[in-house]
Parts: sequence; structure tokens; C-alpha cells
Amino acid sequence: MQRSKIAGIGFYVPKNVYTNDDLKKYMDTSDEWIQERTGIKERRYADRLGETTTTMGVEAARIAIERAGTTAQDIDFVVFATLSPDYYFPGCGVLLQRAMKMKEVGALDIRNQCSGFVYALSVADQFIKTGMYKNILVVGAEKHSFGLDFSTRGRNVSVIFGDGAGAVVLQPTNKEGQGILSTHLHSDGESAEILAMYNPGTHANHWTPQWQSAFDEAEIGQLFMSHAMIDEAQNFPYMDGPAVFKKAVIKIPEVVEEALSQNGLNKSDIDMLIPHQANLRIAQFVQQKLGLSDDKVYNNIQKYGNTTAASVPIALCEAWEAGRIKEGDLVCLAAFGSGFTWAGALIRW
Ligand code: UT7
Repeated sequence: MQRSKIAGIGFYVPKNVYTNDDLKKYMDTSDEWIQERTGIKERRYADRLGETTTTMGVEAARIAIERAGTTAQDIDFVVFATLSPDYYFPGCGVLLQRAMKMKEVGALDIRNQCSGFVYALSVADQFIKTGMYKNILVVGAEKHSFGLDFSTRGRNVSVIFGDGAGAVVLQPTNKEGQGILSTHLHSDGESAEILAMYNPGTHANHWTPQWQSAFDEAEIGQLFMSHAMIDEAQNFPYMDGPAVFKKAVIKIPEVVEEALSQNGLNKSDIDMLIPHQANLRIAQFVQQKLGLSDDKVYNNIQKYGNTTAASVPIALCEAWEAGRIKEGDLVCLAAFGSGFTWAGALIRW
């Protein structure tokens, strides 16, 4: 069966740099706490009114498409992963299709948060393998800065996240051994509520009894988003950080091992591991568990924070631009996040 290869890759981060000290203006936090617990020094925030998740995705896509030696009009399918879409609906895929003046191609949005890009890559890979499409644009982009609680109440979440976008173009390859070797997708919805944004939503309290009061007070027509929900900060993401951390350090190495074993490869065969940039401590733990040396793991959370669906393609692109990934290298992508969902991909570059 025909394999797919990453024919072009690009990323975009907004100009505005926010250091840890900058965040002290809004909340009770410190550079020391943030660096010690997460490794993050600074992150980028999109221009508040001038940039959206889609516009950042378009910037990354333009670079990826050009590097693939193709044009937006040649793209025959779009897969867009994000948890911070421009609209509740329609998704960012169609907005990107419009902005890039593409043909009337299919556009699919993926809602798998931190593992969204690897899920998106896997979907695109299947379409290339079956021969249905030949030029698929895969995008991961986030504008978190619009939807975070910048008061002290939300500091455990808001200091972590940053904005940005990454994109790749997948094409078929005939080169022996080259391309995406396999992808591995997993979920465990048991803990769906421990890293989630509940509202706006249609759950009507089924899964979140702790917010009963907000629903009791809501009139018909206000159940989607009421004043009480806003007063109780339910319009912001909720995260039980330590619980997510504990699961991530188990599931990321597990999916890497699964990918290696399916391909008859060993940990020592990995040339570059690109872990989702959630927390430098998680990435270091994974590195240690897999016994990889520093030159075989790429981290950039220090500069960008956690950009969720954009984190893997941004890190992959930076590593490639820095010459850390060369033709023939075995590259492993691995991500874990809300859902829980987690995913891995093994690529012969
Ligand atoms: O990408 C999506 C997946 N997400 C993740 O993978 C995140 C995984 N989890 C984490 O990265 C970490 O759990 C965090 C970085 C979110 C938090 O680090 P932690 O070491 O687990 O801290 P904690 O939540 O246990 O909080 C410890 C203390 C608390 O104070 P008390 O109760 O001990 O007095 C928090 O209130 O740190 C406090 N705290 C802060 N202090 C200063 C929480 N956030 C902050 C902050 N600045 N920004």
C-alpha cells in the first residue's frame, strides 16, 4: 500500500511575547513558580482583534504548501485540528478553505485537543493510503489567549497556554521505506471532565453536577450560557493538573512503545521524539522513561507554552528547520490531552 510523506511543513506564532513576569500584572503568580513547574519562560498571544485561529492556521499553511512545491488550489482535502475555533460552528476548516481560495474540497475539523494534530495526521494518512486524495493540508492551530481566565482563580491553567499554528502537506511517496509508518489513536473518556471546558455546551448538567446552581437559575434560552455560568467561571477551561500529569507520563511512553513494536523497531532506533509540549517536566519524564539522550528529543515549550493542537507541528517544524531532522531519520510524534485522548505516529523522514 502507498505511504504518505510530509512534503511540506510550516508554522506561525504571533508577534506578541508575554513573559511570566508580564502575567504578574493580571494574577498572583511568579516566574519562579511557572518555570519550576512547567519550564515555560514566555508564550505568544495573537493580536486580540486582528488574528484568529483560522488566520494563524492560514499563515502556517502558506509556508507548508509552498515548501511542498504546490499551491492552495492543488490541495484536495483539509483537516483542521483545534479546541479554540473561530466559531462554535462552522469549523475552522471551511474558513481556511475560503481564506486560501481553495477549490470546493472537503474540510474536516478535528476535536481532539492536545492530540488533535496527531489524530488529524492519522486521518489524512488513511486518505492518502487509499489513493482518495493526493495533497492533504493538515493544520493544528489555537488562539487560547481569547478564552483563558487571567485572574488568580484561573492561574493553574492560564499560565500554561499559548497561541500559534503548525501545518503540513501530506502527499503519496513511492520512495522505499519513506513516510508515515503507522499511527496509533487512543481514548479513555472516564476522565473527560477533569480537563474540559463545559460551557457553552448541551450537557445540561448531566456530567457536571457541581454546577447545578447555574442550571437551576437559568431560564429556557439561557441554558447554553447564563449569567450564573459566567459568574462561576464556567466559560473557562477547567483542569485537574496533577491528575492529567500522572496519566500523561504513563500514556505517552506507552504509545511510543506501541508504535515501535508494531514496526519491529526499538527505542534506540528513534532519531527524534517530538512530544506534545504540555509541560517540560512531562517531556523530561518521558525522555527518561524511554532512555533517550537530549539530542533525540525536541522541546520548545520554554518559548511558546502549550499550544495544544499546534504544539506538535510547531515543534516538528522548528526541529526540521534547525537541521535536527534529516532525510531517513526515524521521527516519533506523541501527544496526550483532554478526553483523555492520546496518539502517536512513527515517520521515516
Ligand atoms: O496539554 C494538555 C494536558 N495538560 C497537561 O498535561 C497539564 C499537566 N499538569 C501540569 O502540567 C501541572 O499539574 C501544572 C503545571 C498544571 C500544575 O503544577 P503542579 O505542580 O501539579 O501544581 P498544583 O496544581 O498541584 O498546585 C500547587 C500549588 C497550589 O497551591 P497550594 O494549594 O499548594 O497552596 C496552586 O494553587 O501551586 C498553586 N498554583 C500556582 N501558584 C503560582 C497553581 N497555579 C499557580 C501559578 N502561580 N500559576
